[in-house]
Amino acid sequence: MSIGRDNWGSRLAFILAASGSAIGLGNIWRFPTVAARNGGGAFVQVYLLFVILLGFIVMVGEITLGRRTQRNPVGVFRELAPRSLWVAVGFLGVAAGWGILSYYSVVAGWTLSYVFTTAGGTFSSGISAENIDLIFLGTIASPARAIFWHFIFILLTVGVVMGGVKQGIERWSKILMPMLFILLVLLVVRSMTLENASIGLKKYLSADWSKVTGSTLIAALGQAFFSLSLGMGTMITYGSYMHRNENIVRSAGWVCFSDTLIAVLAGLAIFPALYSMPGVEPEVGAKLIFIVLPGLFSKIPFGTLFGTGFFLLLSVAALTSSISLLEVPVAYFVDERRWPRRRAAVVSGLIAFVLGIFSALSLGAVDGLSGILKIGPRTLGFLDLMDLTFGQFSLTLGALLIALFIGWKWGARALVDELSHQESGGRLSGFIAFQIRYVCPLVLIALLLYLILNPNAFA
Ligand code: PHE
Repeated sequence: MSIGRDNWGSRLAFILAASGSAIGLGNIWRFPTVAARNGGGAFVQVYLLFVILLGFIVMVGEITLGRRTQRNPVGVFRELAPRSLWVAVGFLGVAAGWGILSYYSVVAGWTLSYVFTTAGGTFSSGISAENIDLIFLGTIASPARAIFWHFIFILLTVGVVMGGVKQGIERWSKILMPMLFILLVLLVVRSMTLENASIGLKKYLSADWSKVTGSTLIAALGQAFFSLSLGMGTMITYGSYMHRNENIVRSAGWVCFSDTLIAVLAGLAIFPALYSMPGVEPEVGAKLIFIVLPGLFSKIPFGTLFGTGFFLLLSVAALTSSISLLEVPVAYFVDERRWPRRRAAVVSGLIAFVLGIFSALSLGAVDGLSGILKIGPRTLGFLDLMDLTFGQFSLTLGALLIALFIGWKWGARALVDELSHQESGGRLSGFIAFQIRYVCPLVLIALLLYLILNPNAFA
C-alpha cells in the first residue's frame, strides 16, 4: 500500500508540518482568553499537565498507528482490525475533517479579509467604536462577503494540498512556520513595550487557583485536544508519511512543545495590549479578535502595521491547520479509492465549502441558522453547533476510541514494539503504553460523561 506514496523529506519537515497543523486559531484566538477566564497561570499549569499526560501520549499513539501502516485513518483500522467496526473510527475522522474545516475556514476567511481591511488603514486613529462594530457586522453578516472569503480560504487550502506532501504541505510549512514565529515574536515585543504592559501580564500569568473548577479541567482538556489536532486522525495521516527510522517520541515532544509555546506567547502578545487601555475588559473569541483588538490598533503607535501583522499571523496559522484538516479526507480518497490527489483535493474542498456556507450564513445573514439550539444562557447558531459536534465532541470521542484501540485491541505490546524500532523511542514506551491503556481512557470517559450530564460546560 505504501508504494508510490509520498514521504516527508526530513524529520524537521514532519515536525514543521505537524506543528503547523497544531498551531492555529486554537492557539492564538482561543487559548489566551480561555486561560484568562480560568485563573490565568493556574490554567496554564493545568493545561501543561494535560498536554504532557494525555495529549502527548495520544499524539505518540496516533503517529505510531500512521507510521506502522503507512495509511490514512480508515486504512489503518482496515489493516489492523480487518472486518470490524473499528473502521468507523476512521470514518469519524474523515467526517470531522470536513466538519471542522467547514467552519474553521469561515473564521479564517474573516481573518484574511481583516489583513486587507487593516493594511488599508481602516483602523487608524479617529475611527469610532461604532464603526469598528459595523465593520465586523458587515464582514460576518453580509452573505456575499462571508461566503467570498470562506471560498478564498478553501481555495488556498486546496491549492496547497493539491501539491502533495513534499511539494505542497512540506514546502509551505517550511515557509509559513518560521514566518509565523517571527511575526509573533515581533508582536510580543511590541506588546510588552506598551505603557502599562505589566497590568495585562499580571492578569494573564498570575495563578488564581480559586477559579479552577471542574469545568476548568474540561476546558483545559478540550483545548488541549483541539489545539494539538488530536482525535480525528490528523496525526495518523501525517505520521503515515514518516520514515520508519525516525524517533516518534522525540518528534511528538517537539510538536507538543512548539504548540504550547506559541499558545503561551500568543497570550503575551494579546494581554498586555488588552490592558494597556483603561476600561477594556477581556472579551472572548470573535469579539476580542475583531472588535477589541482593532480598537487598540487604532490607538497605539504603529497600530496599522501591528494590526496587519497580527491578522497575517492568524491567517498563516489557520492555513497550515486547514491543510491538515483537508489532508485527512484527501488521504482517504487517494489510498482507499485510488483517486488522483488533485481530484481528491478539489472534491473534498468542495464538500467543506458547501457545508461551510451554512456556517458563513449563520451569523446574522439568515435568521433560521443563527439560533438553532439553546444551551443554558447561550443560543447556538449553525457555526457553534458544528464546533460543538466536530471540534469538541467528535475529537474527544475519537481520542478515546483511538486510545482504547491501541491499548486494548491492537495492543500496548504492539505499540511498544513499534516504538522500540528506532533508537531512543523505546525508553518512554512502557510509560506511554500504561498511560494509553489506563489513564487516557479513564480520564476521557469521565470527561465525556461530565459533558453529557452538564452540557452547559460546553459554553
Ligand atoms: N489544531 C488546530 C488549531 O489549534 C485545529 C485543528 C484541529 C487542526 C483538529 C486539525 C485537526 O487551530
